[in-house]
Amino acid sequence: MTKTGEQLDVDFARSHFPALSGEWAFFENAGGTLAADSVLAKTQAYMAENFVQPAAAYEASAEGTRKIEESQRLMAEMMGAEPDEVMVGPSTSMNVYMLSEAIRRWFAPGDEIICTNLDHEANNGGWRRLEEFGLVIREWRINPETAELELDALDELLGDKTRLVCFSHLSNIAGGINDVAEVTRRVHAAGALVCADGVAYAPHRAIDVKAWDVDFYLCSLYKLYGPHLSLLYGKREHLARAHNNNHYFLADDVPLKLNPGGPNHELTAALSGITDYFDILHRHHFPDSNLALHDRIKQVYGLMADHEERIAAPFVEFLLGKKGVRLIGRQTVAQNLRAPTFSFTVAGRRSEEIPAALLPYKVAVSSGDFYAARCIRDLGLAEAGGVIRASMVHYNTEAEVVRLIEGLDKVI
Ligand SMILES: Cc1ncc(COP(=O)(O)O)c(C=O)c1O
Repeated sequence: MTKTGEQLDVDFARSHFPALSGEWAFFENAGGTLAADSVLAKTQAYMAENFVQPAAAYEASAEGTRKIEESQRLMAEMMGAEPDEVMVGPSTSMNVYMLSEAIRRWFAPGDEIICTNLDHEANNGGWRRLEEFGLVIREWRINPETAELELDALDELLGDKTRLVCFSHLSNIAGGINDVAEVTRRVHAAGALVCADGVAYAPHRAIDVKAWDVDFYLCSLYKLYGPHLSLLYGKREHLARAHNNNHYFLADDVPLKLNPGGPNHELTAALSGITDYFDILHRHHFPDSNLALHDRIKQVYGLMADHEERIAAPFVEFLLGKKGVRLIGRQTVAQNLRAPTFSFTVAGRRSEEIPAALLPYKVAVSSGDFYAARCIRDLGLAEAGGVIRASMVHYNTEAEVVRLIEGLDKVI
């Protein structure tokens, strides 16, 4: 039983986001969430107290090193991994380019990599470029009616030449949850590896890379209440075998060898602010618990998922009932099927008209392809300016959703 009756105390959660003190209802969370105050405080503290070269013996440096190492350990724990299996890098796009450069020598000309036409370009471009080295790219294509990646279609592509399958855990357009453990099981049975993009999934549900048995997994921390950095998980044996992207004398330093130049110090030090925030929510809702960190985080995600489903329900009902509106992806709010990342189009209107028309209501949404250009093209939506996207996270409120619906009802 939680202190607050098993429901997320949304006012409490909001009190930890300084950017929420204004008048705007913020529904651009799939583009980037707001940062928790614990993250801001830790960035400030590192820059004020430890902004020196780390790894030296003097106090400011030693303490800075400790902060960076603690963040790296906590981020790994949050993913359900070991610290030497998680690399902190500047962005998911950059991490994929670094990963593809580090493992391309594992593949021979004629070997196949499967990419999707659903994914953000981050988990596409870095792999597709390997055609230059003779690799063959095969495409796991969505069903254009449903915007779904279907497992039967994957089975048809898997074969003895398949080496790697790159796909998203959750699409930043369609919002549907793909069964990452089942995809991984099928790909492993075919003798290949997976690289899953968890960027759009991580703000909504707990990450558990070991339980899913994925080979590589990615998430961007600026969409997880943190700073503009990204995590790349890789199984230890894969990272050890990967080519060194860094200076020659760092060839044995896993995972640093994948990230030339190393991570941004002040922002890496601030990453522990993300787990601090989850812990603050945990203590508030479950004061008597003595679970381990990964389990505490899972419990908080449970509250978030329930809250998100509850506030999104009237919005889905509105979209499904409104004439001329097409909701992309699963036509449901059910938390086991989707996250509250809603993309839609309006018949006869260019998509960019709608966010502009909502400005007087102080409702922040956006439109376009959100760098999932292949998906938008293959859904036939490029000419109309892509989709309008309204994406919620746990700090959104029922009242904000009412404002979004009322605004849309007037402008559509
Ligand atoms: C699903 C998904 N994957 C990857 C990315 C790219 O992340 P980054 O900006 O860290 O490269 C995004 C960003 O919008 C995304 O939504």
